[in-house]
Amino acid sequence: MRGWTVVGGGITGLRAALTLAKAADVTLITKEGASESNTHYAQGGIAVAMGGVQDVELHGQDTIQAGDGLVFEKAARLLVEEGPVRVEELLAWGTHFDREGSGRGELMRTREGAHSLPRILHANGDATGREIGRALLERVGQEPRIHLHERVTMRHLVVRDGRVIGVHALDDHNKPLMFLGSGVLLASGGAGQVYSDTTNPGVATGDGIAMAYRAGAEVSDMEFYQFHPTALSVPGAPRFLLSEALRGEGALLRNHRGERFMERYHPMAELAPRDVVARAIMREGMGERPGESLPVYLDMRHITGKDLRARFPGISARLAEYGFELSRDLIPVRPAAHYLMGGVRTDLHGRTTVPGLFAAGEVACTGVHGANRLASNSLLEGLVFGQRAAEAMVQEGLRDELSIAEEKAAPTVQTVSVGEGEASRVAALRERLRNLMWQHAGLLRDQAGLSAIQAELHVMRRELPAATTRENAEMCNLHTVAELIVASALARKESRGAHARTDFPQHDPGQAKHSRMVRGHVDFVEFT
Ligand code: SIN
Repeated sequence: MRGWTVVGGGITGLRAALTLAKAADVTLITKEGASESNTHYAQGGIAVAMGGVQDVELHGQDTIQAGDGLVFEKAARLLVEEGPVRVEELLAWGTHFDREGSGRGELMRTREGAHSLPRILHANGDATGREIGRALLERVGQEPRIHLHERVTMRHLVVRDGRVIGVHALDDHNKPLMFLGSGVLLASGGAGQVYSDTTNPGVATGDGIAMAYRAGAEVSDMEFYQFHPTALSVPGAPRFLLSEALRGEGALLRNHRGERFMERYHPMAELAPRDVVARAIMREGMGERPGESLPVYLDMRHITGKDLRARFPGISARLAEYGFELSRDLIPVRPAAHYLMGGVRTDLHGRTTVPGLFAAGEVACTGVHGANRLASNSLLEGLVFGQRAAEAMVQEGLRDELSIAEEKAAPTVQTVSVGEGEASRVAALRERLRNLMWQHAGLLRDQAGLSAIQAELHVMRRELPAATTRENAEMCNLHTVAELIVASALARKESRGAHARTDFPQHDPGQAKHSRMVRGHVDFVEFT
């Protein structure tokens, strides 16, 4: 039984697995239950140009414009041109997007930031990712050649004779396992957990990026972390995402004096690109005194004639837990880490720089988002590039048997039960890392802060645990990702998209290139 290993149960991994299973067997590995991924939490929707050539052209232009001079245009063209076919496929597989009008109705299209037209499809109001994930998982369940392994944590890639053939992993009892096959597709998503404030679920610890980098793969554009402008800002509560679709439906942003402020920052006001809105909220939230923070609010109280609870049922239910109602209250918001534009460098077929290793979706960097992703382009990216990577893997052909082996004699790994002291030490280390990243490598950066955190991360290397439990492996991966972000952010001495350096506040046209990092060295290249 020869086949491939796919890591990640979000939209990218599921879509890819369906194509791979037409040609061979597939081991599909997820860190939690298969439905726990960034996909599951995607509220706003999926951007897709289903209105013909002109619509596709405009979607491409919006994607390029939002990416602030760094979008690899060939990748953007593929995204917008292949997107409609991939979404038609989802419809044929039973995905229920919201519709309007009589009979079966037309697909309902809404608008979000930096889109020139309403082109966002959504499902159950604000549960788009969950609905797409449901439909794909149902189809995966009907595919006997896809073998799902849940609650498995990745530790390292297995490299033999310079080729990736599998992954070293831990099961949910921390038993070391090796999944082997013809090659590996990383579809393991992003790394929002590297920041103290994030909209991402706990699984988003950058495992794929860290493992690929350690195996010698190039990573690119790691300095570009997108901060979503509007996460719920309630002390002690998680940074729950308040979808951009709220602003698409007319929500306004107000500062602590109750004034609208976005018009001072961008002609598109509340619907400006995400990086602009996030920084504006941060600036409005800074008080006169150092460290003082002032509230910023999302306001929908003026919207009449729309049932906001019906349009946003998930968000409304969550807000109700904190005593808020969209049509009645000002909702306190602040930015939070949301999406990594950079990642494992791939070509347009998901091939990384290491033989046998493929990557697609948020874990990968094709350059499709440039320095700032256009709202609701990420689910589309997962579909289009997940499918493209799977096709390339099928073309490359099968080599090895799929197998799962217990790792008995691995010298550095044994099944361990970690004492409480060690577990709490690692938890404290993780919190320290996340706070440092937020403080020094967050929305605004400068040389002094980045150098300080780089030195701290260097010292922290000696405190890293052996990757013998899920928490320990995640800690090591977060540390690697933090080092990559900081080194790339130090190297880019300009401000562009999501990367804002207070000491280099302008664009430098000479740096309109992609950063590339491999084995500790950063340089800048054009994607071709
Ligand atoms: C949102 O609903 O605002 C998030 C969707 C996205 O990240 O594009």
